[in-house]
Amino acid sequence: MRLQYRHPKLYHLLVHKLMYPKQIWEELRLEVGENNTIFDIAAGYGHAANFLHPSNAYYGIDINKHFVSYGCKKGGNLELKNIFDPAAYRPSDIFLAIDIVHHLSAEKSKELFNLVFQHAKKKVIIIDPAFVSIARKCGPLGAFLGWLFRVLDNDGFTTIDRWMSEREYRDLFQSRFGSVYGKDFEVTPQKIIGYHFVVFNRKAETLSET
Ligand SMILES: C[S@@+](CC[C@H](N)C(=O)[O-])C[C@H]1O[C@@H](n2cnc3c(N)ncnc32)[C@H](O)[C@@H]1O
Repeated sequence: MRLQYRHPKLYHLLVHKLMYPKQIWEELRLEVGENNTIFDIAAGYGHAANFLHPSNAYYGIDINKHFVSYGCKKGGNLELKNIFDPAAYRPSDIFLAIDIVHHLSAEKSKELFNLVFQHAKKKVIIIDPAFVSIARKCGPLGAFLGWLFRVLDNDGFTTIDRWMSEREYRDLFQSRFGSVYGKDFEVTPQKIIGYHFVVFNRKAETLSET
């Protein structure tokens, strides 16, 4: 586990302050809207909660005890839980998956999104870095950047085997991560300044199934 994953304040500075454009959080606030129950998977210290309308009921889970205890001390509603444990899930209006997709193999993504799509009553919002696809493009420079991203993004719980190309990301979103439960959702992919911002809306005819 890299230093920043043991020190949430350092992570905040390096990742949230330096790497995330504020437009992402503005779009998240709009997309989440008001009066919803929110379930944030791999929530870290619950940073996303800061940007949501206060009428929403936020809950997040993460396996990193440093992040969870820091987030709880700051008043966040977080618990130390594994995102692959089905017992950790409860039906919620909106699921958030921020900065976790690129940490997972295709198999683990399918396992995770089976759980997420099963429990999401209205929508699932995914935010993931798109700029990392440079590691698949620029020959030796790309290979070096890929190595660097992997070293910096070592959270101690997942292993990033490879970086996805733009096309692989697109296919993954369109295929709903290979989850059978994903067929109940319409996908709207977009990119905001180097990040994928993807929304899966539950189809109206399946709204009563959760
Ligand atoms: C790149 S961080 C993103 C954190 C947060 N979503 C954010 O944007 O600030 C990835 C997070 O995934 C968490 N994680 C990895 N594997 C997990 C698992 N099996 N269960 C719960 N959390 C996990 C890590 O602890 C880490 O906090």
